[in-house]
Amino acid sequence: MTIDEQHLVLSGYDKIADAYLERFGVSTVRQKWFDRLLGRLPASGGCVLDLGCGAGLPVARDLAAAGHTVVGVDGSRQQIVRARQNVPSASFLVAEMSKVAFRLGSFDAVGAFYSITHVPPARQGAMIASIADWLRPGGTFIASFGTGPAGEWTGDWLGTTMFFGHAGETETYQSLADAGLRVRHSVIEKQDNEEAAFMWVEAVKVSRPPPAMSAKYSRVMQQMAGSARELSDIAWVGQPLTPGSLRVYFDDQQWPLRIRRCQ
Ligand SMILES: C[S@@+](CC[C@H](N)C(=O)[O-])C[C@H]1O[C@@H](n2cnc3c(N)ncnc32)[C@H](O)[C@@H]1O
Repeated sequence: MTIDEQHLVLSGYDKIADAYLERFGVSTVRQKWFDRLLGRLPASGGCVLDLGCGAGLPVARDLAAAGHTVVGVDGSRQQIVRARQNVPSASFLVAEMSKVAFRLGSFDAVGAFYSITHVPPARQGAMIASIADWLRPGGTFIASFGTGPAGEWTGDWLGTTMFFGHAGETETYQSLADAGLRVRHSVIEKQDNEEAAFMWVEAVKVSRPPPAMSAKYSRVMQQMAGSARELSDIAWVGQPLTPGSLRVYFDDQQWPLRIRRCQ
């Protein structure tokens, strides 16, 4: 996102935070996809990222009420001020979504309701790849994207100047596949509360290492076979762990859960 587009979107939401909630706070379409997300979470309580969470209503609020740990990210300070008031039990960050970083496999699910549509098309693929990194294997991603041919639109919206972008349906599916996100369900759906349609996607993170890391991972996994949940030096198995070397934590499917640098 260029500085101008980022500024336009985020300062725009600072101005229209209340107007947005009043106009779009209720949607049966969002509710339906929210219910899908909820249904994919562990009954014992999961960890969910609400990306572009707005004022936390209704998504973060209802996830937290269902007993899940919720992290909300939004680049609009005014939206986050409201989200913190509306959902005190969740954690909220003011951050531009393409700049925020979480550890590999941090979340059971990531929801991006009407937010990635504000990211320039050329940046959406990288955004999807980051989301895949943040999800644990088997984790769920639910998001709305634009429909039809790729494009960008800047204009008056709810009394401010707003930017919207769409990478194109084929490109979006390709980005999901490249990131290791297998589409479980996808449909173009007309909104109930405005004359607009979105391409909704529910995808699951498949259990394979991200391509950039696969050489390192396969080297470690060969040596770690049969000893899940152990700690290993990802760089050179067999050598003593020294300050600066990387350690990888595995889950019981031998998927690297997170990586830490030794102090
Ligand atoms: C249409 S609202 C959706 C809010 C909420 N998810 C919902 O379902 O009503 C889009 C939200 O995404 C946030 N947003 C847009 N682009 C962003 C970016 N690049 N980084 C962080 N937040 C962003 C906006 O500030 C806004 O709160």
